[in-house]
Amino acid sequence: MGTILAEYDRRRDAGLIRPDAAQRAVAARLDELTAQAPASGLFARFRKPPPPPKGLYIHGEVGRGKTMLMDLFYETVETAPKRRVHFHAFMQDVHRRLHDARQSHTQDAIAPVARALAKEARLLCLDEMQITDIADAMIVGRLFEGLLAAGTVIVTTSNLGPDQLYKNGLNRQLFEPFIALIKQRLDVISLDSPTDYRLGRVKAHETFLTPISGQTDARLQDLWQRLTDTEKGQPLDIDVLGRKLHVPQAAHGCARFSFAELCEQPLGPPDYLALAQNFQILFLEHIPQLNPDRRNEARRFVLLIDTLYDGKVRLVATSAQAPEAIYPAGDHAFEFGRTVSRLKEMQSASWWGKKIVET
Ligand SMILES: Nc1ncnc2c1ncn2[C@@H]1O[C@H](COP(=O)(O)OP(=O)(O)O)[C@@H](O)[C@H]1O
Ligand SMILES: [Mg+2]
Repeated sequence: MGTILAEYDRRRDAGLIRPDAAQRAVAARLDELTAQAPASGLFARFRKPPPPPKGLYIHGEVGRGKTMLMDLFYETVETAPKRRVHFHAFMQDVHRRLHDARQSHTQDAIAPVARALAKEARLLCLDEMQITDIADAMIVGRLFEGLLAAGTVIVTTSNLGPDQLYKNGLNRQLFEPFIALIKQRLDVISLDSPTDYRLGRVKAHETFLTPISGQTDARLQDLWQRLTDTEKGQPLDIDVLGRKLHVPQAAHGCARFSFAELCEQPLGPPDYLALAQNFQILFLEHIPQLNPDRRNEARRFVLLIDTLYDGKVRLVATSAQAPEAIYPAGDHAFEFGRTVSRLKEMQSASWWGKKIVET
């Protein structure tokens, strides 16, 4: 038995994790890769190295244990130098390097940047690959080609399968070679675990918090940390019909906005749809009481909730009022009734997932 499987079983037997056959299968696959991955040390320099093994693209829904397994692999594998980084942080680093290279009048900046990155990491573990931005979409193909050509082994996790990446993005056809490259040079495996382990942590917690106070702010922050394992998410831009929708914080399939950022801005159906397509959980802070003079905000809020509902997105919110008292009077207040009912359904345990287990 390989090291990763052994460690997986040890944690299971110690009661640290629950038995999960789908995860165990991925652990076995990671063990195979550990055995083939380029070793570090002196010997490697004198021997002609064998061709690097295929990397892995592990995808599956959130909370299935992709990151946990990749980290287990990263800690175990002896390849050096190695680098483990969140995909967005990696791309920010890439853009910084490209910018610097162009300052010194490098014609084709991607190739040298890829070579430098490959030298710094024979193994690159990227967590949460997600392409939402055209600036990323247009360079990842050549970047990854350069990394792979230089022999770097890439292991990545994603909530989406390769074909779902940058879906509906601008100039998607220019992105398609990247998908082909991934499928050709990485083994694409899905982690089909039935359980979202993270959701267990919101069980028995209220998700629609009233009123707006220091206390409910703190409870929302607590839920955020339970669901994302981080205090603060990363900012992210999503291309929507050639414009950018700015997401102030994103992490682990969760996005976080204030009501003002989402419903007091000139945003519309395509923006809300992009959110529903890119995230499983939306955190919405500080929904105010909406008086009749705020019918535009009310209209956007209705649209937002409808879109989230259709997309089966889960909602965590702080609100001045309970759903039925948010917009009691004004244009279309009657239709707001449907929004009230949906907001209530979205608080139910069944909406959050029948298969929630306590973790
Ligand atoms: N088999 C398991 N039993 C209990 N907890 C688990 C199990 N697998 C994963 N977890 C925990 O669930 C959370 C979500 O796992 P993570 O690897 O972050 O999921 P993903 O990357 O697929 O979204 C993590 O805190 C992880 O430690
Ligand atoms: Mg993850």
